[in-house]
Amino acid sequence: MTTTDPLVRAALGARAHAHCPYSGFAVGCAVLAADGTVVTGANVENASFTLGLCAERVAVFAAVTRGIRSIERIAIVTDADHPVYPCGACRQILYEFAPDAALVLATTKGREATCTVRDLLPHPFGAADFAPPAPRDAKDRG
Ligand code: THU
Repeated sequence: MTTTDPLVRAALGARAHAHCPYSGFAVGCAVLAADGTVVTGANVENASFTLGLCAERVAVFAAVTRGIRSIERIAIVTDADHPVYPCGACRQILYEFAPDAALVLATTKGREATCTVRDLLPHPFGAADFAPPAPRDAKDRG
């Protein structure tokens, strides 16, 4: 991969840490927060197959744990022949924190596609669809 895009390079670096002995399919993800912070994740599989987690959710949950609530840009790297788009579950998680984020879907062979989270999740379900209860984030409670 020859790209100099720092977010794609961060996702590539995270991909090296994927734990994927069952699928052999390593995925790296990097998310860029509004304040410039970059947080990465890789897919983590488990001998109890269904317990694994995709790189995108690992990255987003790590970012949220660091206090990030708004994500502007996301890079995902695989070694597939074509750019790989996030799975359905990850699209829903991305929508929560990154509804307007731009995605870069890159491959180690240098192919790239771009889209937005909204492109990937038409008719999304979100907080606006129901009357949310009083804020429950620890941050909001003070
Ligand atoms: N995977 C991701 O990390 N992100 C996706 O969007 C699709 C799939 C992972 C899950 C599993 O570890 C492996 O790729 C094969 O499905």
